[in-house]
Amino acid sequence: MKAVILVGGQGTRLRPLTLGTPKPMVPLANRPFVSYVLEHLRNHGFTDIVFSMGYLPEGIKSYFGDGSAMGVDLTYVVEDFPLGTAGAVKNVEKHISDGDFLVLNGDILTDLDLTALLAFHKQKKATGTIALTPVEDPTAYGLVSIGADDEVLAFLEKPSWDQISTNLINAGTYVLKREVLDMIPPGVEHSFERGVFPKLVGKGLYGFRSDSYWMDIGTPEKYLQAHYDILEKNVNTSISDCLDRDFVCLENSVDLELGAKLVPPLIIGAGSVIKAGSRVGRMAIIGPGCTVSAGSIVEESIIQEGSVIGENAIVRKSIIARNVQLGKDSLVQGGAIVGEGARIGENNVLANHIRIYPGTQVKDGSIRF
Ligand code: GTP
Repeated sequence: MKAVILVGGQGTRLRPLTLGTPKPMVPLANRPFVSYVLEHLRNHGFTDIVFSMGYLPEGIKSYFGDGSAMGVDLTYVVEDFPLGTAGAVKNVEKHISDGDFLVLNGDILTDLDLTALLAFHKQKKATGTIALTPVEDPTAYGLVSIGADDEVLAFLEKPSWDQISTNLINAGTYVLKREVLDMIPPGVEHSFERGVFPKLVGKGLYGFRSDSYWMDIGTPEKYLQAHYDILEKNVNTSISDCLDRDFVCLENSVDLELGAKLVPPLIIGAGSVIKAGSRVGRMAIIGPGCTVSAGSIVEESIIQEGSVIGENAIVRKSIIARNVQLGKDSLVQGGAIVGEGARIGENNVLANHIRIYPGTQVKDGSIRF
């Protein structure tokens, strides 16, 4: 059966990480995010996969090629302008054969049981089945209400508390009969959530409830949370194999100097240097080829490939993109994001969700945000 992964969005909420890198290629625990989606599909026997793309497609194509390195068979379709979730699937119609097919949003980390989802869809003889996941704050989402037989009754867009009768949301994973494609106009923007699914209510649309791990990594807060969850093994991924019983994963050739302190859980990428007198963790992901200098602290943070954390610098609850130089005695905290290739001088304070754009040069002592 074909699986279509939607990866055409611009990922605006994750900027500046997505300015030069499409969201599917933004690293999660040192691997492109979408590689987890491919691995999840392969583990459930879905190996025939179409990428529906738009924004910055080249990086994805050149990394994954024909997919053989991941044990899958990949087809790429690039749209000329954003077609929305349903329009983007219509656009790959010629690659979908008769019967059922799977659609996935490409920015969701989950260990949803796809095999059970498919079995449910077949048992119900459904036209479409939407995977549903419970959320704590239902007012922030579009909710899906289902009846006793799991048939979808209604969609409620961001309801107030007095209208709420469910906490289930659309988890961005669907099994659909091919004829659903006939409901989607070609070559124009069209959405499953607003355009297709409301029209399918009462016509064989079912909801598959799941309590599996589920995280949309589309905002910096959730992107950080997905890392914490990987580190704590709250979600099943192959990274769990590297994290040993002590919740430490050291990739190849890590240079851990005597006197460097590691506080699990943590991951340190290949070839990184962790200097004496520094502290990494708890909850730290250091990319490959990074340097964490003496006296510095990295906790609850992500440091991407090739970045250098200067002496006595502190990074907390923040994201440092690739090839950043963080000057000594600087402090980065409170959800800050430092974009790729930025040079942050000594003695700066970056906090309060500040976003530093790629390539920015910040002089010594010039920001105390
Ligand atoms: P934001 O700009 O931060 O909202 O992110 P986004 O552009 O990724 O949008 P959103 O999170 O709503 O998208 C959910 C999923 O659908 C993501 O995997 C997107 O890549 C994908 N997607 C959204 N719109 C399109 C589209 O027009 N075409 C294609 N091919 N995929 C899309």
